[in-house]
Amino acid sequence: AAIEKGTFQHFMQKEIFEQPTVVAQTLRSYLRPLERQVALPQMDFDISRIERVTIVACGTSYYAGMVAKYWFESFARVPVDIDFASEFRYRDPILPPGGLALFISQSGETADTLAALRHCKANGQTIAVVVNVPTSTMAREADLLLPTHAGPEIGVASTKAFTCQLAVLAALAAHFAVKKGRLSAEQEAEIVAHLLEAPACLNAALDHDAEIRAMAPLIAPARDVLYLGRGQDFPLALEGALKLKEISYIHAEGYASGEMKHGPIALIDEAVPVIVIAPSGPLFEKTVSNMQEVRARGGKIVLISDAEGLAEAGVGCLATIEMPKVHPLIAPLVYAVPVQLLAYHVACVKGTDVDQPRNLAKSVTVE
Ligand code: G6P
Repeated sequence: AAIEKGTFQHFMQKEIFEQPTVVAQTLRSYLRPLERQVALPQMDFDISRIERVTIVACGTSYYAGMVAKYWFESFARVPVDIDFASEFRYRDPILPPGGLALFISQSGETADTLAALRHCKANGQTIAVVVNVPTSTMAREADLLLPTHAGPEIGVASTKAFTCQLAVLAALAAHFAVKKGRLSAEQEAEIVAHLLEAPACLNAALDHDAEIRAMAPLIAPARDVLYLGRGQDFPLALEGALKLKEISYIHAEGYASGEMKHGPIALIDEAVPVIVIAPSGPLFEKTVSNMQEVRARGGKIVLISDAEGLAEAGVGCLATIEMPKVHPLIAPLVYAVPVQLLAYHVACVKGTDVDQPRNLAKSVTVE
């Protein structure tokens, strides 16, 4: 049956709104809610013996991999290398025997990622893939297939596949940590409980749609937009900038908040909106001081944070978007929603072709 937009104006919009459902659907196949345990598919290798992980992907899938690097390293204490697929083979990567190579791809067909997969296979790596198309080439060539259950994604700019990738990667990181003896049953139960909160928190994030639509005209005239994030929110800044570029054709850059003073700060003036992605928490104070640096130069800030963060630093912002207070593990999933919606509504203000942006393809099958 043909996939319809229903009451939505664009497939991208529909796919953004499907996230609570498809993330729940994806989590269902990786968690045992009653036992409060993660449940990964059968593996014919011993994951507890993996000493190193190599993550390779492109585009939005690459940013999901960047978040996963934080999780694998902090939970399982396994060092992770991550590369753009188009760069990977050409740096002659060191692939020690017994390593796990993880490929993330919505389509499972991206040529650079597939070439990297085959390179890793030829070099004795165990191949795990997180893909949304279970019949894809990558799925067929994997030792371990970890499907996302996002359903067909039609909009060229990836949205629901991203949050589903994050859901799978969080479960994999937790499983990895359990097998490495780094998480007690109690800690595992806690992680599972937080993951199960994700769909409701995604819904709460979607409740801000009208508010984000109302602020889109403030961003639409900009020539450049800067996105800032720290720690696991840095990849979200990159993803926010990518979404805006892809569909609104506004030049946008994602930067690590603390790195702003080493360059992008030179660009800041009243005409460059700065989108700050910063849930409250141990890193928040540092980000607040980065925001002051922006303000001192006349920069206009859109702060995306929770009630606590907004109470502390929301005054004087051009706009704020309030997210629910969430556990850090699910923050990247939840904060993906406002950056997707912001890009979407800005593109609508500009009247671009949201689902089929110029020069872009859903799946890039040439290297
Ligand atoms: C293209 C799409 C992006 C996607 C990237 C990677 O550039 O436009 O939305 O993130 O490919 O695709 P993959 O299917 O490998 O995730």
